[in-house]
Amino acid sequence: MSAEVGRVAAAAALRADPTVAEVEVGRAAAAAALRADPTVVEVGRAAAAAALRADPTDGPQAEAARRDLVAEILELKRKRNAVILAHNYQIGPVQDIADYVGDSLGLSRQAAATEADVILFCGVHFMAETASILSPDKTVLLPDLTAGCSLADTIDAEGIRAWKARYPGAVVVSYVNTSALVKAESDYCCTSGNALKVVRSIPEDQEILFCPDFFLGSWVQKATGRRNMHIWMGECHVHAGIRPSDIGARRAAVPDAELMVHPECGCTASVLYYLEDGSISRDRTTVLSTEGMMQRARTSDAKRFVVATETGVLHRMRRENPDKEFIPVSEGAVCMYMKKINLENMRDALLHMRHEVRVGKEVADRARLAIERMVAIG
Ligand code: 13P
Ligand code: SF4
Repeated sequence: MSAEVGRVAAAAALRADPTVAEVEVGRAAAAAALRADPTVVEVGRAAAAAALRADPTDGPQAEAARRDLVAEILELKRKRNAVILAHNYQIGPVQDIADYVGDSLGLSRQAAATEADVILFCGVHFMAETASILSPDKTVLLPDLTAGCSLADTIDAEGIRAWKARYPGAVVVSYVNTSALVKAESDYCCTSGNALKVVRSIPEDQEILFCPDFFLGSWVQKATGRRNMHIWMGECHVHAGIRPSDIGARRAAVPDAELMVHPECGCTASVLYYLEDGSISRDRTTVLSTEGMMQRARTSDAKRFVVATETGVLHRMRRENPDKEFIPVSEGAVCMYMKKINLENMRDALLHMRHEVRVGKEVADRARLAIERMVAIG
């Protein structure tokens, strides 16, 4: 069957319909479909997700080529005095070569503390900007400048200024998934790992504008019982696509598993509801940042986990806990932006010292205040 599909159809296939006819697609074809190649045939959700995950270089020859590439990267890293930071959603080979793999909060801390001259940032653009803000004297390289974030794109400086004008006197708490310009307009930054702590640190009678993630904001509001909090209506297309019905289906299939949910998920509110009405167990359900999930996977005595976030986290979870089983709530929860980074463009970034992400001093100085307040809180 060969129906023409463009970017929207492929993204929709990844997000949604498990019944779409599956055809064999290669990684390049799925990526091309996401980029908008109209010649690609119909792509099913599972096939497209598998293709994006799959290693394009399987086989013994490819294994040797990969080893050479890794050696080249390590040599360039030494030559440039670089550190490699990678987010938990990166593909396995990128995680395996990184000096540090973690969540947004951990990566910010590493960027602030590093003694290296160059930070090779394997994540998305706003994260590289955060590294540049915290380490203005370092050269921050992002291997692919098109590694963006659908959530960060839901708010810009103009939007936040207009919002603030409607609520004079309110303080702004911005999730780290925002541009440097938005952070510069904010009083506090937060990540999924410390959003509760940051909001709790603000006096109770102080009005708050929380942006840009609606699901994270709603979870924080519910967990803190805060009434004077206004929440921006932004969402991440990957996490918003994880619906309560996905959780319900997995819970039914593996009822003994522990459930770990990222607060950006479209199902977070219903998980809280299920917790309150007692239909899921409190000690076997947690709402966590990606690094919080890593810790929980290590420390919990459960043997099976259902994981509701981007599927990149499974690589580390499985490697660090070989005796435990990790089941994604949705195979299609794949962030195409995070998957833009690979060994080839990492090597090219270090070889040619490209693509530098640098935030101008005036914006960086303002944005740093919000980030430093967050880092000080925890
Ligand atoms: P974490 O901070 O939990 O790693 O999340 C970052 C992110 O982009 C989630 O989509
Ligand atoms: Fe942005 Fe969503 Fe990708 Fe995270 S998973 S980087 S929030 S688009």
